[in-house]
Amino acid sequence: MIHIDQTKQIFHLTDSHFSYVLKVHQGKLLNLYWGAALAHADLDYLVEAIRPGASFELTEQRTPLELPTMGTGWYGMPAVQAQNADGNTLTALTYRSYRLLPHKPDLPGLPHVVDPAAETLQLQLIDSLTGLEVIVSYTVSGGGLTRSLSFSNHGTQPLTLTHMASASATVSAQGLDVIHLRGAHARERQLVRTPVGQGTYAFDSQRGASGHEHNPFVALATPHTTEDSGQVWSMNLIYSGSFLASAQVRETGDTVLSIGLNPAVHQWRLESGAQFDTPEALLVYSSQGFNGMSHIYHHIFREHLCQSPWNHRPRPILINNWEATYFNFTEEKILQIARAAAQLGIELFVLDDGWFGQRDDDHRSLGDWYVNTRKLPHGLKHLAEQIEALGLRFGLWFEPEMISPNSDLYRAHPDWCLHAPGRPRTEGRHQLILDLGRPEVQQFIINMMKETLSSAPISYVKWDMNRNMTEAFSAVLPPERQMETQHRYMLGLYHVLEEITQAFPEVLFESCAGGGGRFDAGMLYYMPQTWTSDNTDAIERLGIQYGTSLVYPPSAMGAHISASPNHQVGRVTTMQMRGDVALSGNFGFELDLSRLSAEDRVTAKAFVNRVKALRTITQGGMFTRLISPFEGSNYAAWQFTYEDQVLLCCFRKLNEPNPVPHRVYLKDLDEHAFYRDEAGHTYSGAALMHAGLPMTFFPQHDFTSYVTVFTQQKG
Ligand code: DGJ
Repeated sequence: MIHIDQTKQIFHLTDSHFSYVLKVHQGKLLNLYWGAALAHADLDYLVEAIRPGASFELTEQRTPLELPTMGTGWYGMPAVQAQNADGNTLTALTYRSYRLLPHKPDLPGLPHVVDPAAETLQLQLIDSLTGLEVIVSYTVSGGGLTRSLSFSNHGTQPLTLTHMASASATVSAQGLDVIHLRGAHARERQLVRTPVGQGTYAFDSQRGASGHEHNPFVALATPHTTEDSGQVWSMNLIYSGSFLASAQVRETGDTVLSIGLNPAVHQWRLESGAQFDTPEALLVYSSQGFNGMSHIYHHIFREHLCQSPWNHRPRPILINNWEATYFNFTEEKILQIARAAAQLGIELFVLDDGWFGQRDDDHRSLGDWYVNTRKLPHGLKHLAEQIEALGLRFGLWFEPEMISPNSDLYRAHPDWCLHAPGRPRTEGRHQLILDLGRPEVQQFIINMMKETLSSAPISYVKWDMNRNMTEAFSAVLPPERQMETQHRYMLGLYHVLEEITQAFPEVLFESCAGGGGRFDAGMLYYMPQTWTSDNTDAIERLGIQYGTSLVYPPSAMGAHISASPNHQVGRVTTMQMRGDVALSGNFGFELDLSRLSAEDRVTAKAFVNRVKALRTITQGGMFTRLISPFEGSNYAAWQFTYEDQVLLCCFRKLNEPNPVPHRVYLKDLDEHAFYRDEAGHTYSGAALMHAGLPMTFFPQHDFTSYVTVFTQQKG
C-alpha cells in the first residue's frame, strides 16, 4: 500500500483504485500525482517538465508543492506558514527524512480515522533557519487517504503558525467543476456544482462550528462526471469547528485543493520545544462518480471513524416532544405522549428542551441543569421510571456548551463565556457561549453530565448547540494566544465528549446544532447520529438528506415524521410520504402522538413495524443515489443494498398532467439474478438496471412516494 523508492525518493501511496505520488526534488516535496491507481510510480519524467515558461517566471510558481509556503516564488495561498520571531513569514521547508510505521498512530485529543493495522508514512520537513519541523502523516485506509500535520519548534525563538492546512494536493486535470454542500439553518447541505476557472474558489466557516452554511467537504470533478462514472477528487475535514476549503486553479491549469483550519480565526503560538497537531483530513478519489466517492466515505465513517458502541447496533425508534409541545409541557402531557408512543411500539422517549431551571422559553436557564419542578414535580428519575414502565427507554436534551445571561450559572461565573474586555457580549437566541478552552468550564460540564446521567435511567442524550461564536476571545489567554481561542474551544469540547461518552458507553448520543449546524466527521467520531435539520418537511428533506448523503451515511442522519401542516414551511403531506422519507434515516416521530387521527395511528403503527423490519437494510446497507431532487427535478430516488435485499425509495414532488412514465434505474444488482418486489413482481437484475422501472406507481396527488423491497431469488 505504501511503496518507497529510496533512490528516486518517490513515495507511492496506493490501494486498488487510487494512487497518490510524492517525490523529493531538490529538497522540496512535490505532489506528482493523485488519481486512478498506477502499477508503478515511475513519474520522474513529470519533474523534467516543471520549469519556468518565461524568463520572468520563477520555478516554484509552477511546482506542485505538497506543502506550499509563501514568499519564495509560489504565489498561491499557502498551506503552511509561520511568522518568525523577527516578524517575517518566510517558511522554507526542506525534506529531511521519512518513517514507515506498521500502524496508524492515534491523534491525541482530536477525532480521527482508527485503523491500527494500516501502515503510516511520516515525512519530516525542516526549516533550518527557524527550527520549525513539520511531520506530514499519511495512511491509506478503507479506500481513502488520511493526512495530518504535526509542527514542532526546535528553534530557540517562538513562532506563530498562521496557516496549517491539514491537506493540500494538486489535481492535474483541466476544466474541472467544484462540488460542495452549502445552505443555511433549515436548508442545510444543498448540493452545489460549479465550474472553476483560473483563480481561487473558497468557502469557509468562521463560526466556531462547522456550520449550517458550508460543510467541511470539497470536491473536484470533470464536467462529465455523473453519480456513477467519471473522476472525483475530494477532501473532508474531521473537525467540528471553523475551517477553510479552497480550489485554486493555477496558471498551469492545475488545481490545488485544500482544507484545514481557517487562517482568518486560527493561529497557534509555538514556543521553543512545543508541538501542535492539526486535525486530520480524509482524501477520497473515485473514478466511479459521486456514488463511488460516497461509498468510500460511508464505509470509512462506519468502519473506521465512529467509536460509539451504538455504531452498528439497530437504532431505537424514538418520539421527541419538541414539535409536539415546545417549552409548554407538564409531566402528565409527557406521559400522555409516551403512552400513545408505547401503543405504537416506539422504543425511546426523548424529552427535549425545557425540563430544567426556569426554562419556559429560550430567554433563560442554560447552565442551570437541575430539574424544573414546576413542570416535573416528581423529578427526572420518577419520570424516566414511569416511561420505562411503559416499555420505552428515556432520553434527554442538553445544550451543555451554552449559558443564558439569565441563569444562576451566569450570575455565579459571568466570566465563563467567550467575551472581550470592553465589548458588548453579543447574544444569539438570548444566549452566550461558554469558553470550553478553560479547564474549569470543561470540568463543570463533565460533572454536570455525569451527575445527571447517573441520577435517572437515561439511555439517550441529544447534545444540542444553538448559536455560533462571537467575541471568540478568552479571559484566560495572554494577548499573543487570543487567536487560539476557537481551536482551544474545540479541543476542550472533544475532551468533554471523550470523557462523557467513555463514562457512559451504553448511552446513545445524538449530535445537534440548531438541526444540522455541526453535521461533520468530528462529531461522528463520538456520536453515531446527528439531527439532520430542524426542517422536518418531507419535500425539503429530500434535498437535505440527498445532499448530506454525498459524504455521510444514512445511519448518521436523524429523520422524523412531524405534523402536517409542517411547522417550518406549512406544507400539507400525507403521513405515508413523511414516513417514507424518514425511514431512510434514523427513524422517529416529532409530533403529539396523543392527538393522531385514527387513520394516522394505523399508518404510524405500520411504519414502526416496517422500520423495525427494514432498519438492518437502512442502517447497515450500501446507500446509492438514483435520481437527484436538485436542479428543478420533480423526482428523487435512492436505494439501499444489503445482502440479498434492495430497498428502493422513490419520490415525486408535484403531480403532473398527462404524465410520462419516467423510469428509475436501479444500480449495483447482479445482472443475472432475479429480484422479486413486495407486490410479487419479478424482474431480472439486468432489466431493473438497464431497462429501468417506469414510475407509474405514484398516486394521483402532489407529494407522493413509493418504497418497496426487492429480494434476490435463490438459484
Ligand atoms: C434546536 C434543535 O434542532 C431542535 O430539535 C430542538 O432541540 C431545539 N433546539 C430546542 O431548543
